[in-house]
Amino acid sequence: MSKKNCKNILGIETSCDDTAIGIVTSEKKILSNIVINQNSNLTKYGGIIPEIAARDHLSNIDYAIHGALDEADLELQDMDLITATGGPGLIGGVIVGTVFAKSLAMSLDRPYVAVNHLEGHALTARLTDNVKYPYLLLLVSGGHTQIIAVLEYGKYVRLSSTLDDAAGETFDKAAKILDIGFPGGPMIEKMAIDGDHKSFDLPKPMYNSKNPNFSFSGLKTAFNQTVTRNKLNKTVVKDLCASIQKSISDCLVDRTKFAISKFKEMIVNETKIKLVVAGGVASNLFIREELKKLCLETDVLFFAPPLSLCTDNGAMIAWAGYEKYNREGETNLDFKPRPRWPLDPEAHYINPIQLKIGKNGVKA
Ligand code: KG4
Ligand code: ZN
Repeated sequence: MSKKNCKNILGIETSCDDTAIGIVTSEKKILSNIVINQNSNLTKYGGIIPEIAARDHLSNIDYAIHGALDEADLELQDMDLITATGGPGLIGGVIVGTVFAKSLAMSLDRPYVAVNHLEGHALTARLTDNVKYPYLLLLVSGGHTQIIAVLEYGKYVRLSSTLDDAAGETFDKAAKILDIGFPGGPMIEKMAIDGDHKSFDLPKPMYNSKNPNFSFSGLKTAFNQTVTRNKLNKTVVKDLCASIQKSISDCLVDRTKFAISKFKEMIVNETKIKLVVAGGVASNLFIREELKKLCLETDVLFFAPPLSLCTDNGAMIAWAGYEKYNREGETNLDFKPRPRWPLDPEAHYINPIQLKIGKNGVKA
């Protein structure tokens, strides 16, 4: 398959709890984007159980592919390129998506591309808003909180990462403490609308620090203690939600401000710096507004993909897979799913966030 003839791209995402399949065209049209989530199952356990999530992907993936083809009004034979998340993520789910994609590619005789999940989030704004390289990326999801200089395809410099929990994980844990459901981010955002964020004085770890990284574990502990000390009713819960959302948002804005100044030093030839936000937490409207204000203050262009493309989806994998195919060609069918797959493997040595990296290397 020549790169020019590659029109319809199938993207499969199974690295966490959503079984997602999207079809996009090389002209950046999203023909379908089906996401089957496991939220009702996850509410039962208060989080993701990797083994259960993997089994659910196995039963959902058939429905997802039929749904995606129906929505696009296409047949499997119309797919020109088969892409799937190859990591990082929960390995059981990544295996399900990878094996499914390789089998499709073999039976249809089409090229297969293994995609880095983080690259899927990182390149979404190129699909939705035609954003040109280079840009600064704030990637905030359930598993990752990073700021990355995206210089061109495949050239990523991580400027900041979390020393402990991710921002989405903090939302999820706060919601679990309040027992208001999973995933926590959307629940907290909803409750926070009528809450007063000045009601509780929660910490903002790393705020104003010269160390570029994030940290959220102290905030989570302080939140837990605050909840334990207070008698909960609907008003108090709303105020607690507004307060933790504000603390997380202030940390994200402050660290992004710091990274913008570093990025301006790196990209001296650009007339206008661009900030792209991506990942599940980027669908939070309060946080988007605060980031927009920061961009106005710092003379930076702001891009945020539509809400449905911030959380995990197959369309972003299809697009990133297409960009990868154009630069690097197809992936060998002996590709092994990768639980660890950093976008910037050098970052650990320049800005270490873990003391030990383990025998399998840096996680993400
Ligand atoms: O990108 P994503 O779908 O999956 C990962 O790659 O992790 O992100 C899921 C995370 C969850 O932690 C969820 O609570 C958070 O994104 N999230 C939100 C919102 N929607 C999803 N956090 C804050 N506000 C939201 N509206
Ligand atoms: Zn994600």
